[in-house]
Amino acid sequence: MSGQLAIDGGRPVRSTPLPGAYPGATIIGEDEKRAVCEVLDRRSPFRYYGPDPAYTVNELEQAVASLIGIEHAVGVTSGTAALIVALRALGVGPGDEVIVPAATFYGCVNAVVACQAVPIFADLDETVSISAESVERIITPRTRAVMVVHWRGAAADLQPLLAVGARHGIPILEDCAQSFGAKYHGRLVGGFGDINIFSFQMNKVISAGEGGMVVTNDPALHQRAVACQDQGTPRKSEGADLPPFFGENYRMSELTAAVLLEQVKKLDRLRAHVRHLGGIIRESVSDFPGVCARPLADPAGDAGVSPGFVFATAELCAWVRKALAAEGVPIKFPYSGVPVYMHVAILHKRMWHDGLSPWDSRVYTGAADYGPGLCPRAEELMPRVCEYHLSMDWTEQDAQDIAAGLRKVMQAVPSELLAAAPVG
Ligand SMILES: Cc1ncc(COP(=O)(O)O)c(C=O)c1O
Repeated sequence: MSGQLAIDGGRPVRSTPLPGAYPGATIIGEDEKRAVCEVLDRRSPFRYYGPDPAYTVNELEQAVASLIGIEHAVGVTSGTAALIVALRALGVGPGDEVIVPAATFYGCVNAVVACQAVPIFADLDETVSISAESVERIITPRTRAVMVVHWRGAAADLQPLLAVGARHGIPILEDCAQSFGAKYHGRLVGGFGDINIFSFQMNKVISAGEGGMVVTNDPALHQRAVACQDQGTPRKSEGADLPPFFGENYRMSELTAAVLLEQVKKLDRLRAHVRHLGGIIRESVSDFPGVCARPLADPAGDAGVSPGFVFATAELCAWVRKALAAEGVPIKFPYSGVPVYMHVAILHKRMWHDGLSPWDSRVYTGAADYGPGLCPRAEELMPRVCEYHLSMDWTEQDAQDIAAGLRKVMQAVPSELLAAAPVG
């Protein structure tokens, strides 16, 4: 292979596109088809009743709870719905603040605002996850929950975060949307916080296109979560003795559960495959200055779907991205390298109705503004972070092509781009 970079007119490492990055969706097969057809054959796609219900959502809830090692699970329509249900189960509402990491999907922030609460952004640690030290600094008497997002298949450093929560009596909500199957100190994520959530949307570790789940060990939180996903109506069949309250419909369909029950069974195979490929990709740059694999709180627990890299500078990262794209092995740039609070709706606190602003609520006694400078570590780190997203349909050759592309590009980095500070 010619050493001349494709950006300089050389031959690219790869001429065919890499596969898409839909881990769960790419393991959909005959098992999922059969399971969905069974629901249809029974003409009972609703979870609570029908001509011949199989109660597949119940079965999925039990399967996920027992996998995670937690008492209760509630299937819902999406990860965002799961966050809304979990926050409402915790009693989050007007006047409250919820701490959210600076690096995450804006659905996390939407869920807080849907509860009429105010999002407060915590800075990151070197693993690109929420920093316990930053959380502790921004806790106020109004803080009602801390949302810990397990970023890109790998657990956040839970121990210090749980300690901060315990010290201040503030519940921890693990958002495992991106990290089903990740472990922390030998246990699956989703089993540590007070109430935790998963997403089964299209690019998640396991998927039915859409779907979500709320899990908890606390029976009272579980009862409230059950009511919150079903029009504020407690279910006597689940032992609920709450008075009804207002709510919406976030109920999971039997069709979704049928797909997911099959997906759960394939988790270990998927995890082993992507971890193997990720190892090849990560290893390829281990000897180059200016780049390192994303540091993880628990590398052995990585679900493996998104091997990440941290470059010494934003300029180097931008140059490498351009060069890899030309080589036919483009690397992803999560959230365009900016913290979630730079999303315009958040920056401008723009609601769907002017009368609903949680920041202007009579009962909100804080003052939260968003913009550059809010989380300096995130602003400095995020433009230096890149990743690949792997799936079951990726082959060892795909990983080898990426490794070859990374090596070729890193060997050719202009010296002035390496003169900057080392990765740290
Ligand atoms: C961290 C995180 N939380 C929540 C969500 C929302 O999940 P959903 O798309 O299923 O609503 C996502 C989805 O991308 C996510 O990445």
